[in-house]
Amino acid sequence: LMSSQYTNIIVAKPEPSVSLITLNRPKALNALSSPLFEELNKALKDADTDDSIGAIVLTGSEKAFAAGADIKEMQDKTYAEVFKNRFLEDWGQLAKIRKPIIAAVSGYALGGGCELALMCDIILASPTAKFGQPEINLGVIPGGGGSQRLASLIGKSRTMELVLTGRNISAQEAADWGMISRVVGEGEGQVIKEAIEMAKTIASKSQIAVQAGKEVVNAAYELTLAEGLRFERRIFHGCFATNDQKEGMAAFSEKRKAEFTNS
Ligand code: CAA
Repeated sequence: LMSSQYTNIIVAKPEPSVSLITLNRPKALNALSSPLFEELNKALKDADTDDSIGAIVLTGSEKAFAAGADIKEMQDKTYAEVFKNRFLEDWGQLAKIRKPIIAAVSGYALGGGCELALMCDIILASPTAKFGQPEINLGVIPGGGGSQRLASLIGKSRTMELVLTGRNISAQEAADWGMISRVVGEGEGQVIKEAIEMAKTIASKSQIAVQAGKEVVNAAYELTLAEGLRFERRIFHGCFATNDQKEGMAAFSEKRKAEFTNS
């Protein structure tokens, strides 16, 4: 797929170092169909291997980041089909991307849309954002990681409430619960603007250090504390093998701005 061949997403470069991926199925509130996810995975992989890109912003529309997995695509599937075809397993590819992914969320982030945001590294939300796991209303449960990621982020009681009642929460509630970084100021496009600014800042650092930082933070959600601390220290030690560590520390000592070469 060439980027011009995408029909469910739009890929742009708002800054030379930032890839902006916009989910673009407005008529279905960006419902995450299989073709959409295929395109998303391809675009993310391209951004990950493009040396000029330092960070990725993922966004939707003003009305919906994404209203969930595509219910019309799912409704007639049988157990045998979803089991044999490993339905939704390919969503996990997003978590293997090395470069940071910032979700810029406006409007509905429901079901798979909430889970997609949770798979990203940083979530910024506009005051209009609404998060929720309404799968219970469809006779199912979250299938894109929501139950697991929410439980480790916001705790058992709040996760149970979301998953068992299907109630939506506001951007502010999501921020108060520690699900997202923060709610940005009002105004159309503000959340995307701030996400691009943040991505640009991240892209200006040593990309080796950035990707190492992402890897160790993510390890905290998988490893025991002892294993995680050991892993972090090893990766920290590994940074001393890079030119960027020499440059970063020399620049500090010489009171000048570091010129990272990602080497
Ligand atoms: N799948 C497929 N189509 C969807 C969709 C979805 N998840 N969400 C919205 N749409 C479609 C609607 O069917 C509608 O299409 P038509 O115009 O052809 O009828 C169009 O998008 C606009 O939606 P509404 O008319 O419903 O818009 P609204 O403003 O009245 O309501 C909403 C917005 C509250 C988000 C409502 O659309 C809604 O409840 N959507 C479903 C939310 C949901 O249940 N998500 C979970 C899906 S299951 C899942 O994600 C499983 C998993 O864990 C991976």
